[in-house]
Amino acid sequence: MKTFYIETFGCQMNAHDSEKVVGTLLNQGYTQVATPEEAELVFYNTCSIRDKAEQKVFSRLQQFKKENGKGKTFAVLGCVAQQEGERIFEKAPHVSLVCGSASYTKLPQLLVQLETGNRRVTGLSLDTEDTFETPLTRRDNPHRAYITIIEGCDKSCAYCVVPFTRGPERSRTSASVMQEAAEIARAGYTEIQLLGQNVNSYRDPSPAAWDFATLLDRVGRVPGIRRVRFTTSHPRDFVREIVDAIDANPALCNHVHLPVQSGSSRVLAGMQRLYTREQYLSRIEWMKAARRPIAISTDIIVGFPGETEADFEQTLALLDGVGYDSVFSFKYSRRPNTPALELGDQILEEEKGRRLTILQERQRQIQIRQNAAYVGRLEECLVEGFNRATGQWIGRTSQNKTLNFLRAGGESDLEGRYVEVRVTRAGPNSLAGEYVN
Ligand code: 5AD
Ligand code: SF4
Repeated sequence: MKTFYIETFGCQMNAHDSEKVVGTLLNQGYTQVATPEEAELVFYNTCSIRDKAEQKVFSRLQQFKKENGKGKTFAVLGCVAQQEGERIFEKAPHVSLVCGSASYTKLPQLLVQLETGNRRVTGLSLDTEDTFETPLTRRDNPHRAYITIIEGCDKSCAYCVVPFTRGPERSRTSASVMQEAAEIARAGYTEIQLLGQNVNSYRDPSPAAWDFATLLDRVGRVPGIRRVRFTTSHPRDFVREIVDAIDANPALCNHVHLPVQSGSSRVLAGMQRLYTREQYLSRIEWMKAARRPIAISTDIIVGFPGETEADFEQTLALLDGVGYDSVFSFKYSRRPNTPALELGDQILEEEKGRRLTILQERQRQIQIRQNAAYVGRLEECLVEGFNRATGQWIGRTSQNKTLNFLRAGGESDLEGRYVEVRVTRAGPNSLAGEYVN
């Protein structure tokens, strides 16, 4: 029996890719084990969005430097694999397989090549062959299922490696997405998360020619599906019809992640984001005018080359103006191949750190205010689990807020159920409440 271990870094796309890889390996007769020590084959599915993420895999590999003599095989998958290619063999000579996300369907053949004695094997072509789910995909979460609707990215944000690591955009046919959604519902999942680097630029390649808003609405009408989420959106392609669909269809979660990156139009131009601050804010206005209150989250980069104190102040003012429900914020990191590489790294690390701290503290205050408004409300939660340490159930609201709650009278299993919870307390990152039905 051949055993494998897989560790995943990075975004939901990567998490879902690992589900595809695991399914493929199980189908090949491999057995998954919980630690790298027990495994004959060790896979790292990697992220290269920032330098820190990239370094993680090399520090993992470093720990096992002496192991290849002991019959272990090391494989690097994902974005670092695609970005670094055969250079990985130089940096970590005990690695013998390097494979990017566009080549996972070839994994069985690549593994055969290894077994037949090839020392170094690669799958790095970025051709447009699709790598959407197959019936083999082995999903991790019993309630929420990821469905890839579009692979790759055709934008060229000046800081971003993704177009290089995941290749050009290719959409899946609407029929294939709908079939997958129906199968998932039959298998008992109640929540679907539609995935893509830019789901808003989804274009159905079949004659039905659905746009993203239509696809979203139809997935939300699949019998048995109670919640649909989507990630991630690009403001340039985010249209009003998406908000209309959320308003019209209660299964579509009232949460939108709309990365802004900066509040300064000057910096946005440098980033090649293809929208201005004002255009971004017009999208926010559509959401604020929706009938159901839509929670909004975003991503921000501080310290992009040329970002002045005044630009940064504009980002802070944008946070205040929008009132985000959550923000993921990062220090700019120079990435290989990207257009911004030639601008250098103009803002000192220390200054980036200062801006990041100020921004995160400002946002913390905003979240305290935002969440306080939920106290007293009744919220429907999907129960995700039970926290033994606190004796609380962990729920998630449609707006994607964590709501921890107590239930008098023991622990009868609520996991996977939808329950009503009265919010009694609010913190910056979560709500707390009591079960009412
Ligand atoms: N440096 C810092 N943050 C980055 N992101 C993408 N590329 C970089 C980079 N080079 C952030 C963006 C993106 C999120 C997934 O990661 O905010 O939306
Ligand atoms: Fe990381 Fe981006 Fe690759 Fe996701 S697509 S794993 S965030 S580099």
